[in-house]
Amino acid sequence: MLSWILTLAVFAALGRADVSIFTDGAGGLSAGWEDWSWGSTLDYASTAIAGRSALSVNSTAYSAFSAYSETVFGTSYAGLRFDVAGSAPDVSISLSSTADSDSSESIALSALSKDVNPTSFTTVTINFQDLPDGTVLTNDTWNRITFQGGANGAVYWLDNIVLLSEIVVTPTFFSAEPLLGNIVAVTSQGAVDFSTVSVNLNGETVPTTLLTTYTPPDTPSKSITYFQLSKSFETGTVLITAGNTTCNYTLPKLEYAALTLGNTKPISSDIYGVNFPADANYIDTLGITLSRWGGNAVTAYNYEGEFTNAGNDWYFENRISSPTFEPWHDMVKGAGSKSIVTVPALDWVAKDDTSYSYPKSLYPDQAGFDPYNPDAGDGAWPNGTQFGTAPPQTNVYKEWNVTNQIAWLNFMSIKPDIITVDNEIEIASSTHEDMHPAPMDYDEELSRVLSTANAAKNTLPDVLVAAPSTCAWWYYWTSVVGYTDNAAHDNIDFLPWFLTQMKDAESTYGKRLLDYLDIHYYFGADTSGTDAATQALKLRMTRSLWDPSYIDESYIGTSVPPQWHQPNPNAVWLIPRMQALIEQNYPGTKLSVSEWSAPDNDVTGGLVTADALGIFGAFGLDAATYWGQPAITDGPALAYWLYRGAGVPFGSSSVQVTLSQNNTDTLGVYASSTDSKNVALVIINKDTQPLALDVANLPTGEYTLKHFGGNAGLAKWVTTVDLSTTDYLVVPAWTAVFLGQS
Ligand SMILES: *[C@@H]1O[C@H](CO)[C@@H](O)[C@H](O)[C@H]1NC(C)=O
Ligand SMILES: *[C@@H]1O[C@H](CO)[C@@H](O)[C@H](O)[C@H]1NC(C)=O
Ligand SMILES: *[C@@H]1O[C@H](CO)[C@@H](O)[C@H](O)[C@H]1NC(C)=O
Ligand SMILES: *[C@@H]1O[C@H](CO)[C@@H](O)[C@H](O)[C@H]1NC(C)=O
Ligand SMILES: *[C@@H]1O[C@H](CO)[C@@H](O)[C@H](O)[C@H]1NC(C)=O
Ligand SMILES: *[C@@H]1O[C@H](CO)[C@@H](O)[C@H](O)[C@H]1NC(C)=O
Ligand SMILES: *[C@@H]1O[C@H](CO)[C@@H](O)[C@H](O)[C@H]1NC(C)=O
Repeated sequence: MLSWILTLAVFAALGRADVSIFTDGAGGLSAGWEDWSWGSTLDYASTAIAGRSALSVNSTAYSAFSAYSETVFGTSYAGLRFDVAGSAPDVSISLSSTADSDSSESIALSALSKDVNPTSFTTVTINFQDLPDGTVLTNDTWNRITFQGGANGAVYWLDNIVLLSEIVVTPTFFSAEPLLGNIVAVTSQGAVDFSTVSVNLNGETVPTTLLTTYTPPDTPSKSITYFQLSKSFETGTVLITAGNTTCNYTLPKLEYAALTLGNTKPISSDIYGVNFPADANYIDTLGITLSRWGGNAVTAYNYEGEFTNAGNDWYFENRISSPTFEPWHDMVKGAGSKSIVTVPALDWVAKDDTSYSYPKSLYPDQAGFDPYNPDAGDGAWPNGTQFGTAPPQTNVYKEWNVTNQIAWLNFMSIKPDIITVDNEIEIASSTHEDMHPAPMDYDEELSRVLSTANAAKNTLPDVLVAAPSTCAWWYYWTSVVGYTDNAAHDNIDFLPWFLTQMKDAESTYGKRLLDYLDIHYYFGADTSGTDAATQALKLRMTRSLWDPSYIDESYIGTSVPPQWHQPNPNAVWLIPRMQALIEQNYPGTKLSVSEWSAPDNDVTGGLVTADALGIFGAFGLDAATYWGQPAITDGPALAYWLYRGAGVPFGSSSVQVTLSQNNTDTLGVYASSTDSKNVALVIINKDTQPLALDVANLPTGEYTLKHFGGNAGLAKWVTTVDLSTTDYLVVPAWTAVFLGQS
């Protein structure tokens, strides 16, 4: 304990002095620093803010004020401090190394201070040992500090920019929360005095014992200390005092959950997947089981040169792929993950890393141009409507056909477990209009799936095929061509038609060509707000994954185009609906969701992800990969860690859970077992109040406890607890808890 207090008390670099980078009146940067700014107008003696001499910065889109140090300062300093003024300037701060081209994470000024204003200077400090997301600045040969403007540039003023030798941390109690039967979890920073922690339950002071302190390795700036009460929680009021912080909770009356331990069914381990995990540590820490190479930027992937083109996502420009396939795929497989790999299935792939489809010189009137390459346009008229025509494809692409697909599959040093037939090709006329401007109809999509699947299965007999990777609800049922396309196919909606065709193909080709019906699913509701109503909506919309009584809170819930023929059409009811379509049209096909995500602007993103992973297991989804690469310390990543990281994983068999109330808007409870013992339970309290649950049939004894959210915040909190009773378990507001029998 003593050493812990000493290391956290002061984030210091002993024996160093502060280093000034800019002081007003100097007329330029301090000695030893050079101005490496770009695209920015600087005035080192501006007096525009309250007459005080300062550095004014006016950066165009993505441009920056950048200060280069003639000596490497690395991690020798405790932090960076500056005074800043401006009208909510969209600026992010990062460190970089000219020696190895590394960059630190980019820290938005808005994450550092909400007080920045255009009439006076606000002092802002970046603590390198406590970045805004709780992580620590990585050790590198940092020698450059950059303030970069956003898409609309940034206008702001800076003064007194200093590298700090020392930041003294005030001992602080952040929160204290009741947890499970008789535990209080206290989060703190610095040398706090734990003897000041006291707990009062319904008017009575309850003796506590300090159990243990845990500091997450990747977010070490805060610790959690668990105390055990000498009696169990009960309905009423609990007051927890820690230092001068007092927390007051109302413990609610009980709700009930019952586990049916005998009645298990398998959970597919492939549901814990993500797109493009960055490295083996990510896969290992979060327990990622399936890794996808996918998205709009792999449609044009040319393995001979590692060229690609993200189409409409980035001005139809060729570039070098990042990552490149072979090292990434070898890493994924080496780390123990399965892989799901997109094989291009349009007729073109990028021919080089420089060409682009809509140069300004040929198409002067376009809606937008690349801020980094003003000659590369977005292929849309000034009113935003896409051209809908392609230049000669050979300007930018080389031809690609089934012979090339086979050559790539043969070339791969390690073979993928699953391939997908391109990505969302039903909307290629929009995402890749320069390659494929013609609207994709049912027949063309089917024929591309058949030829690619057949080539893949002939080349790699063990590979599984996932298709058609349809982007969204609308296109599950029709094509870009529209209702005439449904009409031309006996008025059968797209996915059921596709399944029957793939079933017929099994007879024609003498083998199954489709192993997974693959779809993409993004929640339909508008979750752009940050208000309480939107947060509650986010947390309950996971019901769209399974609940036939949940009328979707999006256009899906209010409209049904007349040519669609699906039952209960205002409920998404995703997994059971798709499983029923498979059962009717091509039994034996598995179901995968190779893109989905949770809107992630606060802890609710992690809770939605945890809820979804529980639903995937309980409802028998066969595979899923989260879109994007949630940072390892972000909520969605913590949800993977909750199920799969740090010791005991969630089990391989789903245990049925019965809840006493229809409360899935605010509560998720998922249970598993392995070999009919080793029960693991995930409880997600989606409510803004603590929850008290009596969990029938949960064995008592020693458990690994993992949790995130609530007042303890986003961190990988883990400890061991002895569960002596299970009849009043408290889960704090907005918290996900994992209990795994040790
Ligand atoms: C910033 O620079 C742009 C030109 O790049 C100019 O139009 C604008 O007026 C400047 N803003 C201020 C506040 O100086
Ligand atoms: C950073 O790395 C360098 C060499 O890579 C090492 O000498 C130095 O001690 C490290 N600093 C810290 C704070 O870990
Ligand atoms: C709370 O305690 C801390 C540490 O002892 C102290 O710095 C702070 O001023 C106190 N806050 C109040 C409101 O008393
Ligand atoms: C704690 O909260 C309850 C319910 O809101 C309230 O009645 C009580 O006065 C509070 N106690 C303290 C010490 O704040
Ligand atoms: C946008 O402009 C183009 C070219 O002038 C025109 O063909 C198209 O109809 C316009 N679209 C809309 C929605 O007005
Ligand atoms: C694919 O294109 C190549 C030329 O790039 C050609 O030699 C080959 O025959 C084509 N394969 C098929 C199946 O059309
Ligand atoms: C849950 O409540 C909703 C809304 O009141 C209702 O439509 C639905 O049928 C209920 N479901 C169950 C399983 O009771």
